[in-house]
Amino acid sequence: MNLTHRPRRLRQDGVRGLVSETSLDPADLIAPVFIDATTDERIPIASMPGHERVPIDESVARVEEVLETGVEAVMVFGIPIAKDAQGTRAWAEDGVVQEATRRITAETDAYVITDACLCEYTDHGHCGTLEDELRGEAGHDHSEGCVHDPTMTVDNDATLESLERIAVSHAEAGADMIAPSGMMDGMVAAIREGLDREGYEHVPIMSYAAKYESAFYGPFRDAADGAPSFGDRRHYQMDPANAREAMREVRLDAEQGADVLMVKPALPYLDIVSELRREFDHPIAAYNVSGEYAMLHAAAEKGWLDLEAVAHESLLSIKRAGADLILTYFAEAVAEDLAAGR
Ligand code: PBG
Repeated sequence: MNLTHRPRRLRQDGVRGLVSETSLDPADLIAPVFIDATTDERIPIASMPGHERVPIDESVARVEEVLETGVEAVMVFGIPIAKDAQGTRAWAEDGVVQEATRRITAETDAYVITDACLCEYTDHGHCGTLEDELRGEAGHDHSEGCVHDPTMTVDNDATLESLERIAVSHAEAGADMIAPSGMMDGMVAAIREGLDREGYEHVPIMSYAAKYESAFYGPFRDAADGAPSFGDRRHYQMDPANAREAMREVRLDAEQGADVLMVKPALPYLDIVSELRREFDHPIAAYNVSGEYAMLHAAAEKGWLDLEAVAHESLLSIKRAGADLILTYFAEAVAEDLAAGR
């Protein structure tokens, strides 16, 4: 054979690493942590092996575990002591995220990002205030056997006020970055305005900019107790069928001042990550979500996949598609592997 081009030349040991285009770095990973105000013991999350809900008293210890692996940033999720129709515990000064954030920022060097959303805090599990008020149905308890008009959805503009309060309360508690995940129109502008007004103009916003209405969030909703009690989130999260819409949606967040643009989930939406990389100069984040984590663990448990290998390959693929930052439940495990030279 007279082959001029033999790509295998560069796949030989010694040179393969030199020509490698993408690599993983613990400095690009963000580890989600779950702080639970309703417990004084750590509770393992069955569908997310290796992850636990930890009590507020253990929030610093939990973050220290993350830091020991070389990962420097955490995303804090909270399970509140009580829920109501508005999700008022989400902006309480002594709320679970506020309390944990105060302790973590006082006692560790972790970079603390807080999830600003309402679904863990509302008794109906939706990401904001329902239209009940508008439709004259306010005031009933959504938690027990409540039968709702399935067309009832989240009141966008009322929710913006809540999101602004949440963001300011997180910043007051010391959060380094705020990450709104509710997919309300105008949420970045509302939060930016609130933060700036209160003197937190230095606090960046990482917007869950293209967040899809995905079935891959299942394990998280168990972990954070945030499943909607009726209906679904298709009235506010994006339709998995749409890519062009993602560009429109993300452009709005960029115009409103989002500092980091996130795509969520990650692996089933790498086309979106890659398109964002081409269209925007912002740092791009991707959220390798609970379902992406759970399915690899489940297959590995059966002996069908090599967990360490598929975890690395997943994160590498997310970076190759164009993500600068990755939120992932594999953060600690992969950082440990990298430190051990694997
Ligand atoms: C909403 C929120 C969700 C996740 C992160 N923030 C759940 C949802 O939108 O239903 C999902 C994360 C995951 O699945 O890992 N506060």
